[in-house]
Amino acid sequence: MTFIAPSILAADFANLQRDIEMINQSEADYIHVDIMDGVFVPNISFGIPVCQAAQRHAKKPLDVHLMIVEPDRYLEDFRKAGAEILTVHYEACPHLHRTIQRIKELGAKPGVAINPHTPVELLSEVLGDLSLVLIMSVNPGFGGQTFIENTYRKVARLSQMRADSMVDFQIEIDGGVQLHNASQLAKAGADVLVAGSFVFNSENPLKTIADLKRSTEI
Ligand code: DX5
Ligand code: ZN
Repeated sequence: MTFIAPSILAADFANLQRDIEMINQSEADYIHVDIMDGVFVPNISFGIPVCQAAQRHAKKPLDVHLMIVEPDRYLEDFRKAGAEILTVHYEACPHLHRTIQRIKELGAKPGVAINPHTPVELLSEVLGDLSLVLIMSVNPGFGGQTFIENTYRKVARLSQMRADSMVDFQIEIDGGVQLHNASQLAKAGADVLVAGSFVFNSENPLKTIADLKRSTEI
C-alpha cells in the first residue's frame, strides 16, 4: 500500500484549519510540512509557529521536510511543534550521521532528502539508520513544478539497495506527483507520494487523494 502525503505548502494559509481537517477526513497517511528558509532554497514558506498550528488540528502524523541550512539548530523546536518524521537534506548536513542520531534522540523518525542531482548511492552508509529517504523529483523550493523523469531510475536503484542490504525505510517522492506518474512510482518502489498543487488545486481534494491512493494499488 502506498502512502499519500498532501503538502500544506499548497493549502490556503488563511484557512489552514479547514484544509488540515480535509486531510484528516481523507485517505491520506501523512501531512507533509515544507519548511523553506530562503537560503538553502530560493523561497521562504513558513516556520515553527505554523507547524505548531498544524499540530493542533492534525490527526495524521506530521511529516516535516526541512529545506533549511544548519537544520540541527531547529530539530528540537520542530519536534516540539509536532514533527513525527523529521527529514533533513543531505546537501545541508556536513555531519549527517550526527544529525540523524540527534533526530532519533528527540524521539522522531529520521529522514534524509536528496536533490535531483544527488545520487542515491551517497546514502549507502546511513540507510540502516533511516526511517525514510525522500527523493526530490523537482528542484526544491516551489510547488507546482514539472516532475523530473530520471526519478524513476533513482527510485528503482534505491529500492534495489534496500532489498540488497535488508534494511527497512520508506522511499518518499516529492514534487510534481500527479495521477499520471503515481502508479509508475509505486511500481518502481516508492512507498510515500507527496502531492501539493495536484491535491489543493483540484476541484475535489478529498477525491483527488482517494484517486491517487487507488492509482497506486497494483
Ligand atoms: C518542493 C516541496 C514539495 C512541494 C510539492 O520544494 O518540497 O513538497 O510542496 O508540491 P507539488 O506537489 O505541487 O510539486
Ligand atoms: Zn516537501
